[in-house]
Amino acid sequence: MKEKNQVREHWGGSLGFILAAAGSAIGLGNLWKFPYVTGQNGGGAFILVYLLAVLVIGFPVMVCEISIGRSAQSDAISAFQKLSTGKSGVTHMLGLFLMLGACGLFCFGKYGLAGIFFLVALVIFRFGWATVGILSVVTPFFILSFYGTVGGWTIAYFFKGLFQQLNFTDAASAEQTFATFADSFGPAVFFQLLFMGITGSVIWFGIKNGIELASKFLMPLLLVFILILIMRSVTLPGASAGISYLLTPDFSQITPHSFLAALGQAFFSLSLGMGAIITYGSYLDSEKNILSSSLMIIVADTFFALLAGLAIFPAVMAMGMEPSAGAGLAFQVMPLTFNSIGDHLGWLWSAIFFFLIFIAALTSAISIAEGCVTCLIDHFRFRRKNAVFWTILLASLFGVFCSISVFNWNRLPALQKALVWAFGASDNSLFDLMDHFSSNYLLPLGGLGISLFVGWQWGMRHALTELRKGGSEVTDINFFALLAGLKDDPLSKGTHSLTLSLILGILIRFISPISVILVFLYNIGWLSLK
Ligand code: PFF
Repeated sequence: MKEKNQVREHWGGSLGFILAAAGSAIGLGNLWKFPYVTGQNGGGAFILVYLLAVLVIGFPVMVCEISIGRSAQSDAISAFQKLSTGKSGVTHMLGLFLMLGACGLFCFGKYGLAGIFFLVALVIFRFGWATVGILSVVTPFFILSFYGTVGGWTIAYFFKGLFQQLNFTDAASAEQTFATFADSFGPAVFFQLLFMGITGSVIWFGIKNGIELASKFLMPLLLVFILILIMRSVTLPGASAGISYLLTPDFSQITPHSFLAALGQAFFSLSLGMGAIITYGSYLDSEKNILSSSLMIIVADTFFALLAGLAIFPAVMAMGMEPSAGAGLAFQVMPLTFNSIGDHLGWLWSAIFFFLIFIAALTSAISIAEGCVTCLIDHFRFRRKNAVFWTILLASLFGVFCSISVFNWNRLPALQKALVWAFGASDNSLFDLMDHFSSNYLLPLGGLGISLFVGWQWGMRHALTELRKGGSEVTDINFFALLAGLKDDPLSKGTHSLTLSLILGILIRFISPISVILVFLYNIGWLSLK
């Protein structure tokens, strides 16, 4: 399994890196989560809050993740080990805090959470900051399990569309078709494994010949397909209701909850907190500009989320459908909407729509799996092909459990019993639990670890050294002097300067960790905003 003295691969160019990272960011989070969350939280007003979260927290964390990866030139676990020199009081305090939390939770009979707290505390005591890296190798298995399931559905529905098997014209048949398929053991598992196999086959060929090449081909395709759907959607009579549903700002719906929803959505959508971007950053060479690349990635992701809203809501509203969330919206409402247009091309619109989601999910799944693959290669000295084989095999097996339990627990009664004992009763299927657990717990925790690490351990000074390497002197421009037209005035370089590096430092050391802690406490129900 050993791979000796291999020269580390790098992206062929900035464009390849940006497209691959944008491919990671643009996924199910944009296509079915963002439009719905936006519609429910005050439309245009929520978009403003979301943009704030992306700029103030998403952007700095993304810059940090790429800087960590590029500086360490290794997988996430090795990166945290390499960059954290010396002892850290912060990790010991965190470990102690979690240990106390575990005792408290145990006393209240919350054995499952107590066990998780206890385990994480032990890992922190043993591995220090590398725990953040370890988290970023564990989280992918949770995300891939439901991502692979949905990815498989999109392939199946693409073919169903193409072969005119989605011809239903009422909501009950749409629901019936979806339930029959998603609950069918064989086909659901087959398509999930197929999706994981396709994901693995791209990573098999490495960074340049696999991920970069695929991204350069798939990302433009994604844009073309969504533009085609938008043109169909916004030209339907009555489409303006959907556009206003999405964009009309209703500030009365902005509550503290909106800020938290926006932050959670920003983390998931930008692929932050999980090592995917650290891993992609580790294949970047030092001539590339991290700041401008990060900016392009977040702009692409946000822009695509808006495009997804424009493709979905105008059509749904024009056809008088109820815009529901998640799987129901994509697999029932959308084909039904396309069938009601009356141009006899419903099958084609459905096929295009599911192919679009398939590509978006594929490029994201690739980045999720690549984090583990790179870790096996760099940290455990696997050959790439072996690393891909084991990652995909394990993630697929894990995902099969999700695939076969989307609607009920009938097929996994023992697992349900164990989970109810550990975490208390829940109506959710394993599929929902995986989504909920990874998006609401693991990603914010990873994001917190990354902000604390860069802000208080590795240090902003090192992060900035990495940023300046790409020739981006923009970090040190005095904004006040720039505004006053005194950018080149030597005297304006003095004490009262406001530079991007100062802003980034404050955001990473204080604003980002505090916001993530608030979101985290809210998610676990320890912070109420009523
Ligand atoms: N950003 C992806 C989406 O919006 O669907 C999901 C994701 C990918 C999350 C990669 C985390 C990650 F590391």
